[in-house]
Amino acid sequence: METSFDLKSLRERVRGWKSEGLTIGLVPTMGNLHAGHISLLERARAMADRTVASIFVNPIQFGKGEDYERYPSTLAEDQEKLGAAGLDLLFAPDLAELYPGGIEEDTRITVPQLSDILCGEFRPGHFSGVATVVAKLLINVQPDYALFGEKDFQQLLVIRRMAHDLLIPGEIIGMPIVREPDGLAMSSRNSYLDASQRVTAAVIYRTLSTAAQRVAAGDAPFATIEGEATEALSAAGMRPEYFSVRRRADLAVPGADDRELVILTAAWLGGARLIDNIQVERGAAPAA
Ligand code: PAF
Repeated sequence: METSFDLKSLRERVRGWKSEGLTIGLVPTMGNLHAGHISLLERARAMADRTVASIFVNPIQFGKGEDYERYPSTLAEDQEKLGAAGLDLLFAPDLAELYPGGIEEDTRITVPQLSDILCGEFRPGHFSGVATVVAKLLINVQPDYALFGEKDFQQLLVIRRMAHDLLIPGEIIGMPIVREPDGLAMSSRNSYLDASQRVTAAVIYRTLSTAAQRVAAGDAPFATIEGEATEALSAAGMRPEYFSVRRRADLAVPGADDRELVILTAAWLGGARLIDNIQVERGAAPAA
């Protein structure tokens, strides 16, 4: 596996592959890789002739006081994992490579509305930071496929809208959440949890699963299900930011006829902000 630290060598390698008619799959990451990231790479390898992964902790998607400074940096271990998983090229630029004019004055891409709800309400500017850096990566790699985990479901929709609206070619692909045996969604931020918090964190998936069963069975209004789930997270010692049933296609509040839904939550546990979601079809299960 080759590692490129600059855009010049990345573009050269990509140009070479394209001139041979090879397809490219891209997996953007912030590093500290886990099995969820590797599942994206495996899918990329199955779809494309060549694979590129990026590791870049993107400062403009972190708010003031968030974990940018302490975000785990594990490049050597990540390189080993990516090499073992068969990656062709790792792109690991520094800040000046992606933001040559500095981060304050840099152009920003903003996807309206979708960026302002749910996580966007609690992390102003976050999705604009994500859309901006992902656009830079898509423009420079020009992948046929770019793969993102569905754990960050809202992020996936923001990126899809950004690529669609900016007419960026290539397909944006969402991949299923990879979970620990107790259901906790794999995340680089799980490393912030101590042993007892790590046990508690499994409550998030259990609460989402219960809510999904209730939505599928139609056993209560969504507001009741959301309220009781929020209470369950608080009772377990978490600080929930939201727990919300939404329309899967655009995260709007569901209308009476919407069946394809997703339930999303964000909750703090100690110093870790954890997010998760579960997809559900309204009325898919008989009432208990
Ligand atoms: O999901 C992530 O790891 C990041 O938000 C991404 C998509 C790599 C952009 O920095």
